Amino acid sequence: MRASSGRRPSMTVNGATPVGATTPEEVAFAQEVQRGEPILEVRDLRKHFPLTKGVLFKKQVGAVKAVDGVSFDLMQGETLGIVGESGCGKSTLAKVLMNLEPATTGSVKYKGEEISRLSGAGLKAVRRNIQMVFQDPYTSLNPRMTVGDIIGEPFEIHPEVAPKGDRRKAVQDLLDVVGLNPEYINRYPHQFSGGQRQRIGIARGLALKPEVIICDEPVSALDVSVQAQVINLLESLQGEFNLSYMFIAHDLSIVRHISDRVGVMYLGRMVEIGTDLEIYDHATHPYTQALLSAVPVPDPTARESRDRIVLTGDVPSPANPPSGCRFRTRCWKAQEKCEREDPALTVREWLEGRARHDSACHFAGERENV
Ligand SMILES: Nc1ncnc2c1ncn2[C@@H]1O[C@H](COP(=O)(O)OP(=O)(O)O)[C@@H](O)[C@H]1O
Ligand code: SF4
Ligand SMILES: [Mg+2]
Repeated sequence: MRASSGRRPSMTVNGATPVGATTPEEVAFAQEVQRGEPILEVRDLRKHFPLTKGVLFKKQVGAVKAVDGVSFDLMQGETLGIVGESGCGKSTLAKVLMNLEPATTGSVKYKGEEISRLSGAGLKAVRRNIQMVFQDPYTSLNPRMTVGDIIGEPFEIHPEVAPKGDRRKAVQDLLDVVGLNPEYINRYPHQFSGGQRQRIGIARGLALKPEVIICDEPVSALDVSVQAQVINLLESLQGEFNLSYMFIAHDLSIVRHISDRVGVMYLGRMVEIGTDLEIYDHATHPYTQALLSAVPVPDPTARESRDRIVLTGDVPSPANPPSGCRFRTRCWKAQEKCEREDPALTVREWLEGRARHDSACHFAGERENV
């Protein structure tokens, strides 16, 4: 696992001195990341699911705004963690990026090329380069297929990149890469444990040598003891195959462990984004602060001295989000302006040091007593 250390990049604007980078090692790493190109550029992405009424003549009466104006970059070789409560649009975002669901509006560029405008061979090539690992290793593998057929299936869909010679050998190599015995090639999914099935899912994701892997809660369904093994595997594969990861989870501790940067989602929007140090130690958005205050602290002294924020009220419906700031119905800092004006995701000029990162709050600021 990656140590949560000062080796994290500090993103900058226009190649200036990295904000928050202090040690020479940190500055070097920050500059290294700056040089990397974005592999995915997402701009004002929206996915609205129509709400219809009537059986015979369906009439649209509204829309579930599952993803509602999300912008971010995924840099080459980085891990971007995405956190947020259940129902905030994480999986929908992943599916739209994968082209499994068409976007309602907005732009997704892969290496500078607009995905939504591609078709035929161009689209197929992009699909090959962006793979997904799903949450549930029990339902995402076809129980009637052998492990060899499951892992080798992408070769059938993309014969242009399939190994020219022995496919069986290629599948066995993939089993070996994810730490499974290559002799298991003829076994069926039910013969494996949860952690092993997730390794099979990862091997399948790797078959076509993708550049981006979107992991949607890849360890949430696994026992705690197995979660670390799968995270370790993902980290070692990243170095070996130069992968960029988008890592979705609702568990903030796991996301911190694996991520270089973290984006926080609330009700279809990104409300804060920054390096792991910026988000975990210098959060400026009240929603992020509330999520962090709920993370269990093992040290009893630290636990007692900490002010926990208890969010009141339910998450509003994504079909009818509040005006202005979407978080205002649950925010203890809300003021009249929050009802009128939708806060942009940007750096507020009054913030300093590691607090200077993108936050969608009119009154962004670090918390005291944390
Ligand atoms: N196919 C769909 N049709 C209608 N609503 C959907 C569909 N998929 C997801 N939603 C809704 O979109 C919102 C976001 O869901 P989802 O992306 O699964 O969130 P998360 O992964 O963060 O839990 C939820 O309110 C969910 O009910
Ligand atoms: S803009 Fe207002 S309601 Fe929204 S998070 Fe900031 S203080 Fe709270
Ligand atoms: Mg989900």
